[in-house]
Amino acid sequence: MRVIAIVNQKGGCGKTTTTVNLAGALAADGARVLVVDIDPQAHATLALGTDPDKLDENIYEILAEPDGSEHLQQIILEVGEGLDLAPSGIVLSALEQKLASERVNERTERLSAALDALPEGAYEYVLIDCPPNVGLLTFNALRAATEVIIPLETSRFAIHGVEKLLETIALLTERIGHDLSVRVLTTLYDGRTRFARTTLAEIREIFKDMCFDTVIRLNVKLREAAARGKPIGNLSPSANGALDHAALAVEVEASPPMESEVSLPAGPAEHPPREIVVRFRDANANDVRIAGDFNGWVPDKGVRSLIESEGQTRVWIKILRLPPGTYQYRYVVDGEWREDPENPEIISSTVGGRNSVLVVS
Ligand SMILES: Nc1ncnc2c1ncn2[C@@H]1O[C@H](COP(=O)(O)OP(=O)(O)O)[C@@H](O)[C@H]1O
Ligand SMILES: [Mg+2]
Repeated sequence: MRVIAIVNQKGGCGKTTTTVNLAGALAADGARVLVVDIDPQAHATLALGTDPDKLDENIYEILAEPDGSEHLQQIILEVGEGLDLAPSGIVLSALEQKLASERVNERTERLSAALDALPEGAYEYVLIDCPPNVGLLTFNALRAATEVIIPLETSRFAIHGVEKLLETIALLTERIGHDLSVRVLTTLYDGRTRFARTTLAEIREIFKDMCFDTVIRLNVKLREAAARGKPIGNLSPSANGALDHAALAVEVEASPPMESEVSLPAGPAEHPPREIVVRFRDANANDVRIAGDFNGWVPDKGVRSLIESEGQTRVWIKILRLPPGTYQYRYVVDGEWREDPENPEIISSTVGGRNSVLVVS
């Protein structure tokens, strides 16, 4: 069972649209798909034709009580052929309060336990539509997930928020010792505007292999389908929005979760990856990571770290394996993104701030 969380702390970037229409497209291809709506706004529930106010039970019952996880099946509704929904409701906004006194581990693994309790083989795909913040509910989704899709809107893209999100995901996966394959999906793309075209190029440059080839174009039919409570493929199968989500489904089907470590480009045989060692010295920092285009800007992903002392100063040693090429990177020092103070090679990033440059010959 592949469990895919659709995550971005920003609202309006296409999380719900991606969840519902990717689910619809996967189901149309014959897969058994469950959409889990964990946004108290219940937009996915509505977009799948279900009025959350008319339900007696929703995902809150599953997450709020210790034995709730055993009852997930009881709240699941069939909303299409091969397509089921675990609905949400506004009551879910009270969950954080309700679970405030429980241990962190206990309250963040409720959803994961509920999915584990489903009968073997019930679904090939579970898609989790997350709320627009990184709180308890999103943590539950990330713990339950094997994969993450981050929708990025090409009309209002800002790198900073995505860096923060990737950092949070990296920290969380490290803490719980569980790897997630993270991919980026560009959405709301209007190819007529230069801004959108430039942004798409920048996103591809920054996230490289993490990007889906598919781009979800701006298409009013997507909004109409949501209002009519159906995946777009069921209503307007020839609309761009249906074609784009069908293409996305094909990409998702073709690419099972990646291996845990970021796979570096192999490079031609005569140019094998080299071990590159960089050092960051600081007397006050507690946590230093490195992120760059070589690891999809996920701090310390695929990097070996050592810490040494030079008197009062601590030295963070980062060991990278990189094929020949030119790379951009920054350090993340106690959560703050900084250029390398010992490297004079610095360029302005296309999306704001300054990156250090590393050339591997
Ligand atoms: N590709 C698109 N083309 C046109 N409208 C879209 C597209 N993607 C999303 N929308 C609309 O934009 C709004 C926000 O999208 P939504 O998926 O709800 O974002 P989120 O879940 O991240 O808040 C919704 O009204 C949705 O119908
Ligand atoms: Mg939403």
